[in-house]
Amino acid sequence: MEEKKQLQLPEVILRISRCVQQWYPLILLLVISSTAQAFDYGDALTKSLLYFESQRSGRLPYNQRVTWRHHSGLTDGLEQGVDLVGGYYDAGDHVKFGLPMAFTVTMLSWSAIEYGEQIAAAGEYEHALEAIKWGTDYFIKAHTHPNVLWAEVGDGDTDHYCWQRPEDMTTSRRAHQIDENNPGSDLAGETAAAMAAASIVFRKSNPHYSHLLLHHAQQLFEFGDKYRGKYDSSVGVAKSYYPSVSGYKDELLWAAVWLYKATDKVDYLKYVINKAHCFGGIGWAMTEFSWDVKYAGVQILASKLLMEGNHKEHTHILEQYRSKAEHYLCGCLNKSNDDNVERSPAGLLYVRQWNNMQYVSTAAFLLTVYSDYLHNSNQKLHCQRGEVEAQELIGLTKAQMEYILGSNPIGMSYLVGFGSKYPRRVHHRGSSVVSYREHKGFIGCTQGYDNWYGRLEPNPNVLVGALVGGPDCQDNFKDQRGNYMQTEACTYNTAPLVGVLAKLHQLESQNLFCSSSPCLVYSS
Ligand SMILES: *[C@@H]1O[C@H](CO)[C@@H](O)[C@H](O)[C@H]1NC(C)=O
Repeated sequence: MEEKKQLQLPEVILRISRCVQQWYPLILLLVISSTAQAFDYGDALTKSLLYFESQRSGRLPYNQRVTWRHHSGLTDGLEQGVDLVGGYYDAGDHVKFGLPMAFTVTMLSWSAIEYGEQIAAAGEYEHALEAIKWGTDYFIKAHTHPNVLWAEVGDGDTDHYCWQRPEDMTTSRRAHQIDENNPGSDLAGETAAAMAAASIVFRKSNPHYSHLLLHHAQQLFEFGDKYRGKYDSSVGVAKSYYPSVSGYKDELLWAAVWLYKATDKVDYLKYVINKAHCFGGIGWAMTEFSWDVKYAGVQILASKLLMEGNHKEHTHILEQYRSKAEHYLCGCLNKSNDDNVERSPAGLLYVRQWNNMQYVSTAAFLLTVYSDYLHNSNQKLHCQRGEVEAQELIGLTKAQMEYILGSNPIGMSYLVGFGSKYPRRVHHRGSSVVSYREHKGFIGCTQGYDNWYGRLEPNPNVLVGALVGGPDCQDNFKDQRGNYMQTEACTYNTAPLVGVLAKLHQLESQNLFCSSSPCLVYSS
């Protein structure tokens, strides 16, 4: 039913659009919104924020809403004499990996900075702040000295040997640090970016906290810049799980651009400008944005500085940043001559087999913010295959979100707990074992594998709001617990969705007010 409808309607409207060429982008939008089933983006937003409560490590607060979880990891750091209780479990295991955790918090904060109003209008602002603060409180603890940052608690090898609830954990909780002799400029840079971005979020509601975050961010940036090195050379246990393939130069630029946004101090801007060339900021043209590779994010933030027009003396460099940002966006839009992002037959952006959704989610976010920047500055995106209007960028975001939420060949929502059909066997220890609330008896390391991991039944606890790795390049998906490439979710998959869903929720609410005339995403 749905699919037939999708084939017919656009054809009709595209035929009409030939008569009114100048309205094409607007009509395209109409096509996008009229052919798809309606999704409740507000509900999806609420769920996406709930997910972060499932991933909490440490002592859970009185207002914890995900009640199948309980306190865990209460001795994290004890062996090393440091309090590292708190923070987030990364995915389906219980390692606290610093680099992806920091990227998660940066993206949650960026979401709140760009779409704070929209998040608030959906009634979710407090939850968004809580999700950010759960991460930044931990980073404050982990940054014990100007030049010491605790990089990881636990390790993948021993953790993955066990299938246990976090409440029962018996695996090593050894903590690993970076310092002057064991540098980690990528980790220090990303954590600085997260804390600088969060300091902007808390500026009004909690100025003292905001100031504290900024102080840590500035120290971390200085540490990362002064003692150069890749963190995975210093923290060996991170190497087979979160290796810094792109190195640390992208994170140092990323940290500097966030610190500039947070402080307005020209030294940070100068860093972004002066190091643009030698750090690859204006050299690397990328088609992915991820916990490892930040170039596209830097380039898009630099483009915004250019569009705001306050930095005339740096126009030359900022324009080169923008050209690379455009390369990323045009690739997503399939508007480059080469180097376009692949798509599945049903249209999902496809970067790679393992946890592909992380790239869809970050692309959706960057397309959304850039669409707003273009709209606000009354500009267009210049791609090799033509000019693109702001509306077309948000149109692609919407199409990707519709796919994620269930408008795809198998009718599966890849956001867990959303709609009626979603992955039931998410590769996640806590979700797949009986809740600690219902069964307090200890479940051992291999007992979890024997009794819970291999079961065919759905997980007993629904990991609401998790965005799983998603389908393969042919839109196929196997809902099996052992299929971790597709059924595992990570905190950095959902984080960018917070901003995207808030924006789409706002647009959807506005559309309610225009029943007869074309409903435009951007009403003037
Ligand atoms: C991308 O653009 C090319 C050239 O216009 C076209 O042949 C191809 O079908 C497009 N791919 C998608 C997924 O839209």
